Amino acid sequence: MKDKIRILISEEDVNKKISEIAAQISRDYEGKEVHLICILKGGVFFTCELAKRITVPVSLDFMSVSSYGSGTESSGVVKIIKDLDEPLAGKHVVIVEDIIDSGRTLAYLMEILKQRNPADIHLCTLLDKPERRVKKQVKVDYTCFVIPDEFVVGYGLDYDQKYRNLPYIGVVEQ
Ligand code: IMP
Ligand code: MG
Repeated sequence: MKDKIRILISEEDVNKKISEIAAQISRDYEGKEVHLICILKGGVFFTCELAKRITVPVSLDFMSVSSYGSGTESSGVVKIIKDLDEPLAGKHVVIVEDIIDSGRTLAYLMEILKQRNPADIHLCTLLDKPERRVKKQVKVDYTCFVIPDEFVVGYGLDYDQKYRNLPYIGVVEQ
């Protein structure tokens, strides 16, 4: 059965905003190299589009985590499925996520990654649902879009592993 998807943020608007965030990162990291950590799988489309538009030198690494939980709630108990290939010591790290929801995944991840002694570590997300935040300590440095509490797909985000490839952000209509 084919689901009906309502467009929440168009492809044009997403790309325009990513260009703005990339320009801001390029300014903030002037004279430095930025080490982007893509959180798989959801962060992959955003990371690529962001990296292409950043004008300071960029290196990339990938991490895959799963958050145990029931249904759509993450528990905050995070299992590392694929760890980074490179050490973080002395690097200017930017974690690139698809969406911050409860913040449980990121709160846990930040703690682990800080222990690896990066020069600094910042957080960049395509989408933020602040209404859903449980972990208030999660501070987002770069946000493309703040969205209401709706389940969204596209641009890397999935519903049952589907729709990651949509070039826009949409809501699956029930
Ligand atoms: P958190 O630990 O609750 O912040 O979980 C964040 C993760 O939940 C994201 O990386 C997504 O994989 C998933 N997630 C949260 N909201 C959505 C949504 O609206 N659509 C798709 N995935 C979501
Ligand atoms: Mg995810």
